[in-house]
Amino acid sequence: MEEKKKVLTRRDFLVSAGGAAAGLALAGTGLGLFAPKAEGATIDLPEYPWEQYFDKPLDVEKVRELGAQYYGEGNGCAEGAFRALVEVLGEPFNYVPSQVMNFGKGGGVAWGTLCGAVNGAAAAVSLVYGRGQGTAVIVNELMAWYSATALPLNTTESSVAGNPLCHASIANWCKATGKKSSERGPRCKALTGDVAAQAALYMNQLQAGTFVPAFPMSEETKACFDCHVGGMADDTLGKMDCSGCHEGH
Ligand code: HEC
Ligand code: HEC
Repeated sequence: MEEKKKVLTRRDFLVSAGGAAAGLALAGTGLGLFAPKAEGATIDLPEYPWEQYFDKPLDVEKVRELGAQYYGEGNGCAEGAFRALVEVLGEPFNYVPSQVMNFGKGGGVAWGTLCGAVNGAAAAVSLVYGRGQGTAVIVNELMAWYSATALPLNTTESSVAGNPLCHASIANWCKATGKKSSERGPRCKALTGDVAAQAALYMNQLQAGTFVPAFPMSEETKACFDCHVGGMADDTLGKMDCSGCHEGH
């Protein structure tokens, strides 16, 4: 089949949208700057990076609601969190198919590694900031917040994961609540919304110039880290709380 899709330059994009102001007005109506989502339609995406299209604060509570909703619809935690954020970010972010993050469910198709909600939310952050500083700054804080915060928020059936691993997160939740891992659905649904919302909050704060990291590495881990990650031992990598898995020495 003939490849019809072409990538527009930023300039073409603005011209075809009738200027930035008209484009933004259109975006506000839900009519969209880009080609319609009709089957077979090609969508001309503007040149990346797209940070400039994140130009108004995100509705944090809408992100929370959509994250839980998409999890509930069977998208999984990673796709659910990513999809909630790109939907609220709007165009052109929402033209990236959310299925790209589907693998993240259960910490990577149930391998229990990085929590999928964190993974999906971080992917959306990365889509906004690309190689810019915002990616590392926000994702770092999201990982640290997730590790230290009783989740899901606003329920008594919550638990602190200790690190960003799905494995530890679920295990600690089962321990704290007496529930079975197989009963985690409603919990992971709410958590997906909370994590996506937290990423939205951090993006809003960074944009407003009010972002302040609040979860520094503990003194204990810092000591291990300074020797083992790039220090005199220089033999591993990571910022997770070491005591979750190792004895000191
Ligand atoms: C003063 C530097 C230093 C500090 C601080 C330090 N380590 Fe080590 N650690 C070493 C060295 C050197 C070794 C032995 C060589 C190696 O395995 O790299 C070692 C070995 C280890 C090993 C390998 C298994 C073992 O016991 O031999 C683990 C795991 C480990 N350290 C974890 C930690 C943790 C967790 C902390 C913080 C609670 C920590 N280390 C603090 C320097 C340090
Ligand atoms: C989620 C669990 C987990 C956390 C958290 C963790 N580690 Fe590890 N670490 C492991 C595993 C698993 C291995 C591989 C052990 C093996 O294969 O014997 C390992 C290996 C190591 C080794 C080499 C051990 C050896 O026998 O030589 C060092 C050193 C180490 N970790 C240090 C750290 C430090 C320092 C931190 C904190 C910054 C940390 N780890 C956090 C799980 C963890």
